[in-house]
Amino acid sequence: MSDQPLLLDTALASFDALWSPRVVTRVNDYDVRIAKVRGEHLWHAHDDTDEFFLVLDGELHIALREPAGERTVRLPKGAVFTVPRGTEHKPSSPDGAALLLFEPTGTSTVGDRHDPVPGHVDATTGHRLEC
Ligand code: NI
Repeated sequence: MSDQPLLLDTALASFDALWSPRVVTRVNDYDVRIAKVRGEHLWHAHDDTDEFFLVLDGELHIALREPAGERTVRLPKGAVFTVPRGTEHKPSSPDGAALLLFEPTGTSTVGDRHDPVPGHVDATTGHRLEC
């Protein structure tokens, strides 16, 4: 974590890995993470925390399994959305997107319950930003 201002464009340009978030800063016990995504993530749920998404670029879809059934929310650039704790969700982005996430430090990208992790998905609690 830097004690200097950080440009998100610079941070995003410093890595190419998909579905592999970088921690840009911490706020109390929370990470602010950025990620580049394309294609499909996997169904998973975070049992103990909500998960906040802000779309910085592109469009993100999030499929949700809710008590009333399954639905998909579409988040264009600039949209924010919070997945409630315990809700199974599967992010995807057919054309690619850049995201900012806000969640407790130590939160796994694949949650506490998940489908088998495909090879293109990084199961991580976030990587250091190198820029
Ligand atoms: Ni999640």
